[in-house]
Amino acid sequence: MEYRYIGKSGLRVSVIALGTMTFGSMTDKKEAFRIMDKAYDNGINFFDTAELYPVPPDSKYAGLTEKIIGEWLKTKPRESIILASKVAGASSGWFIPPIRYGLTAMDKFHIKKAIEGSLKRLNTDYIDLYQQHWPDTIVPKEVTMEAFDELVKEGKVRYIGTSNDTAWGLTKSNEIARFKGYARFESIQNNFSILNPRFFDSLEEVCRNEQVSLLPYSPLGGGILSGKYNQKEIQKPARFLEYLKHPVKRVRVHAKKFYNEKTLKATEKFLEIAKKYQIHPVTLAIAYSKQFDFVASTIIGVRNLNQLKPHLDAANLKLNREIMKDIVKLQKEIPYPMG
Ligand SMILES: NC(=O)c1ccc[n+]([C@@H]2O[C@H](COP(=O)([O-])OP(=O)(O)OC[C@H]3O[C@@H](n4cnc5c(N)ncnc54)[C@H](OP(=O)(O)O)[C@@H]3O)[C@@H](O)[C@H]2O)c1
Repeated sequence: MEYRYIGKSGLRVSVIALGTMTFGSMTDKKEAFRIMDKAYDNGINFFDTAELYPVPPDSKYAGLTEKIIGEWLKTKPRESIILASKVAGASSGWFIPPIRYGLTAMDKFHIKKAIEGSLKRLNTDYIDLYQQHWPDTIVPKEVTMEAFDELVKEGKVRYIGTSNDTAWGLTKSNEIARFKGYARFESIQNNFSILNPRFFDSLEEVCRNEQVSLLPYSPLGGGILSGKYNQKEIQKPARFLEYLKHPVKRVRVHAKKFYNEKTLKATEKFLEIAKKYQIHPVTLAIAYSKQFDFVASTIIGVRNLNQLKPHLDAANLKLNREIMKDIVKLQKEIPYPMG
């Protein structure tokens, strides 16, 4: 396993991180423990969660993922693990999170409430990387950065990061931090994969120049790049089949962003590349993400232990120029299949 530093921080993380957002909903506790054990034994030291998880978000079980991880953490030396969690962003626009009565905001009150809850559920007195899950468009960034900085000063958090953010949002937040002498965002956790190259539009320039690391999430496009949705009979489990039947419209709309005609077409071409080079499609998708120097660690997701092996196989795989050229060609032929 290769290890890289996040931004300018002292966090040295495995190039593959284990995402946990299905633990407590699609993945039960016993299976989650088996997955985390296997990941840890294979050199994964970086685990990503959020106060809101598991998904799809539901007030009935929000916080359950952190509780499962908290129990598992008792079985490992705490300092051997780099733990990342997130405070839910603002309750506005597209999504009202089912926590704190749907009133979340990136202000001091909510950031403090969130960290206290996460530390308790996670059974720890510090989080290595604390991230805003998505930005707040109302609360001034000065307020958010000051609140995060206090957590760092109190020792509850070692470093901070952002997620689902824009080039402007990241730059503005870190300029405020620089001006005020606050801790800055060392990472940005955004959707990034062969199906979603949006990061290259403008964030690449910011991250390279400012030495902020990308932590890509959904590197398999939520499972699409495994190729199973291109089969006549889709092999279950398959999250988007469940999401398309979900009673909440937002969940159904979310599924369509990942699972649509264009992503399936792009995946068809991707599967041809995987076949040409005789690489498992899951391994190829994860290896692609690791390929970039601005990526510190790629956050994978598995619903069960059987799915993990091809992800681990990507740990030591470096793609040659020929394969990368084929992937870029595919991306030019079918640009932005996720919109
Ligand atoms: N910051 C954010 O807003 C945000 C958003 C999303 C995710 N994340 C983070 O990123 C992590 C990963 O996200 P993701 O789950 O969307 O990643 P992903 O790698 O794109 O998708 C993972 C899903 O693909 C399917 N899969 C995985 N391995 C497979 C295999 N070998 N064969 C067939 N299917 C396979 C599984 O779902 P099925 O079995 O159901 O098909 C699995 O849950 C999350 O746990 C979370 O920590 C963060």
